[in-house]
Amino acid sequence: VGDLTAADLKGKRVFVRADLNVPLDDNQNITDDTRIRAAIPTIKYLISNGAKVILSSHLGRPKGVTPKFSLAPLVPRLSELLGIKVVKADDCIGPEVEKLVASLPDGAVLLLENVRFYKEEEKNEPEFAKKLASLADLYVNDAFGTAHRAHASTEGVTKFLKPSVAGFLLQKELDYLVGAVSTPKRPFAAIVGGSKVSSKIGVIESLLEKCDILLLGGGMIFTFYKAQGLPVGSSLVEEDKLGLATSLLEKAKAKGVSLLLPSDVIIADKFAPDANSKIVPASAIPDGWMGLDIGPESVKTFNEALGTTQTVIWNGPMGVFEFEKFAAGTEAIAKKLADLSGKGVTTIIGGGDSVAAVEKVGVADVMSHISTGGGASLELLEGKALPGVLALDEVVRVAV
Ligand code: 3PG
Repeated sequence: VGDLTAADLKGKRVFVRADLNVPLDDNQNITDDTRIRAAIPTIKYLISNGAKVILSSHLGRPKGVTPKFSLAPLVPRLSELLGIKVVKADDCIGPEVEKLVASLPDGAVLLLENVRFYKEEEKNEPEFAKKLASLADLYVNDAFGTAHRAHASTEGVTKFLKPSVAGFLLQKELDYLVGAVSTPKRPFAAIVGGSKVSSKIGVIESLLEKCDILLLGGGMIFTFYKAQGLPVGSSLVEEDKLGLATSLLEKAKAKGVSLLLPSDVIIADKFAPDANSKIVPASAIPDGWMGLDIGPESVKTFNEALGTTQTVIWNGPMGVFEFEKFAAGTEAIAKKLADLSGKGVTTIIGGGDSVAAVEKVGVADVMSHISTGGGASLELLEGKALPGVLALDEVVRVAV
């Protein structure tokens, strides 16, 4: 069984590994419940088919049992979204948990305590994985955000618990980040931003093999400008990546990919929200000034290029959008993608900061897909196989 819908679920104990690693404030309030909401369809499907759900996740990076990393604050929201009272265990293995599982009625959900309270989780220790596995009859991995980690609850457990299948969220992430990107409706544009070219090399190289148009923004563009001999003032530049930037530009040319760098930028006299700012051509950044956003002319050119596409993937902001003065470029791209989505273009937001930008603009709901993974979506876009996916029973379907 590679597919959850093919599994016999009535009365079965199902171990669901989700990524409920949500941000909490100092008072343990959830500040963004996206990952909880994303986990709901699989859990709802399981309970409505009479399964007993044993729900597992990590939260943060605790060193041993740490109360502030307990999953307890998630129970009210989970219960509310599922419409049933979720029971929480104080541990994730052991006799108390076994007792709770044994008394779990069909259609109920038991939330296990943070699986990272055991160091064996991240070490992927077989004995620990075996204990997790012994709680259930079936394993469902829906933790896309953690699928790049070979941990006991994402990878090791599958060696002791069969069938091991993908949940709906994990499947959807693969359908978009692998399926739609490998066999896109064309023209296919990729927008890659973010501050450092070094953290996006793999993504750019991989997307260059697939896309027709590549738009670059964010702090990384200054490394490209400098590589072309342009003055960059005090903008962020990775000196050791100048050669790489040149070779990426050459590669795009050789592949016939239309690579666009911003033609104008918004510059600042310091890295601060209240910095003085002005718009200049990308070729005229004065000494002492740094580029913090793409300019209006670039937005226009990017929008025109995007207007011709059928599929767009976006990873990384166009500027320092946390500062209002330098948020316009990123917000304009978010709005353009929302507009394209409404016209039937497949729009994929690949994790991290670009997701925050789309949420800030209030257009998250209209995108075809918003990834719940940061590191996991980057690795997938780089073309890497994820251990949590490889461990599942069958090669998971990757067509949209
Ligand atoms: C994430 O937030 O990216 C995932 O939950 C994985 O967390 P980790 O980086 O602590 O493994």
